[in-house]
Amino acid sequence: MSDGFDQLLTSDLALSSGVREILVQAGVDLCIYDPSTQVANSISAEQPQPISVQPPTSLEAHAAMMDAATPIWWTRAGASDPRRVVLVGRSCPAAQLPALALMLAMTFASEAECRDIQTQLDSLSNQLADTYEELTLIYQLSSGMKINRNPEEFILQACMDVLEVMQVRSMGVVLCDPQGIAQTPTLYGEVDIPPHLLQRFGGHVVRAMKRTSNPHIINSLSKHAEYGYLAPHAGQMLVVPLARHETLMGALVCFDKRGEGFNTQDVKLLNSIANETAVFLENASLFADARGLMMGLLHSLTSAVDAKDAYTCGHSQRVALYGREIARHANLPESLCDRVYMAGLLHDVGKIGVPEQVLSKPGKLTDEEFDLMKKHVEIGAKILQNVKQVEDLIPGVLYHHERYDGKGYPHRLAGQSIPLLGRILCVADCFDAMTSNRTYRRALPIEVAMMEIRRCAGTQFDPLMADAFLSIPVETLTALAGVVAESTVELKLAA
Ligand SMILES: [Fe+2]
Ligand SMILES: [Fe+2]
Repeated sequence: MSDGFDQLLTSDLALSSGVREILVQAGVDLCIYDPSTQVANSISAEQPQPISVQPPTSLEAHAAMMDAATPIWWTRAGASDPRRVVLVGRSCPAAQLPALALMLAMTFASEAECRDIQTQLDSLSNQLADTYEELTLIYQLSSGMKINRNPEEFILQACMDVLEVMQVRSMGVVLCDPQGIAQTPTLYGEVDIPPHLLQRFGGHVVRAMKRTSNPHIINSLSKHAEYGYLAPHAGQMLVVPLARHETLMGALVCFDKRGEGFNTQDVKLLNSIANETAVFLENASLFADARGLMMGLLHSLTSAVDAKDAYTCGHSQRVALYGREIARHANLPESLCDRVYMAGLLHDVGKIGVPEQVLSKPGKLTDEEFDLMKKHVEIGAKILQNVKQVEDLIPGVLYHHERYDGKGYPHRLAGQSIPLLGRILCVADCFDAMTSNRTYRRALPIEVAMMEIRRCAGTQFDPLMADAFLSIPVETLTALAGVVAESTVELKLAA
């Protein structure tokens, strides 16, 4: 019986409505006796009156009290609490009090058990919610790990997701440069740290993470010996390392968790995010290296092709730049614009297989020589067909001499049956041919070449791609031509 009353004493003396109803129906007050004041106070009566009573010293004394005019039933004292629960029968016969006390004790015990189960359930559902949020966040990050996504964009998205899920005031990242030196941290959210402190903090965190790769949880920055200088701007901080294969790449940092301090669950979550981010950054770096290598090779290859004919020097690069600009003005996705650029670089690669005397012959070509020249599109396609990374560029190489009216080569395709890369590069290629010096004529002014493109829209050129080209400002075209002219001069000087 005492167990149930102990539970009552430890649960802030809150009576459930069920217990109140029992007491009202039985005509009993439930009181708590405090030995220090020797007063029992009702916790069930609507207008409680303190009752001055003395606890019985023995069973006999208890029995004697039960015979008194006001029946009183004392429960046993709790193990650690000196207070005692007293039942005072206002209109209840004394004989019924022991049974009522037993029933109340059982009710309190089962209510306590229910509270325990409810607490366990709440804790479990909180854990489940945390795990769900963690999994959702990691899923979001993983699905955003497209290899061609730029790292700044990825980090921004990761920080925004963390700000939302972890309920922190700020989230940021400190990255190291290839020499392992901290760069200025990037911080998103509400915490505003002045630039000179932010820079100091970046170096500080990276040095600390090099000493020990353990996460830092600091729930009171104002009392912290090393990071105290951040206290005017933030109250709490969580830092985890950003590392891959034991190489420190930087750290992730959160400031000020709303409502409470950082805990081990937050460390676990931020660590998972740091792992995902480190994998992405490593892959992005490898991808950038591989792309740099490929672009270097492509530029070398196209320079070698263009060098076969001194008059077309820089042609492939200009066609690549014009082609990409046309694609952009046609509102094509940036990834496709990039492929147009690469196809432009390679569009004449097949000229490697055309005899030099044909390529650089001054004056008009004979029919036979022109047939040899026309072969460059198929030779180019053959060169690329076994290189997986560029095989999607082949339509640009093979079809850039097709005409919209079906009178081009090699397959006399017409209209939309000419692949898009071919239709774009056809405009870019002809524009560069018209605006470059040739052995047989001087370059045409840009405005004249643009009029020619307009005139041939729908016959030689896809009208949509011609329109996209004509929407490019003249200054842009001039600037693009200038980029190639400058880099060509640099190459010549280097040689
Ligand atoms: Fe060509
Ligand atoms: Fe060309």
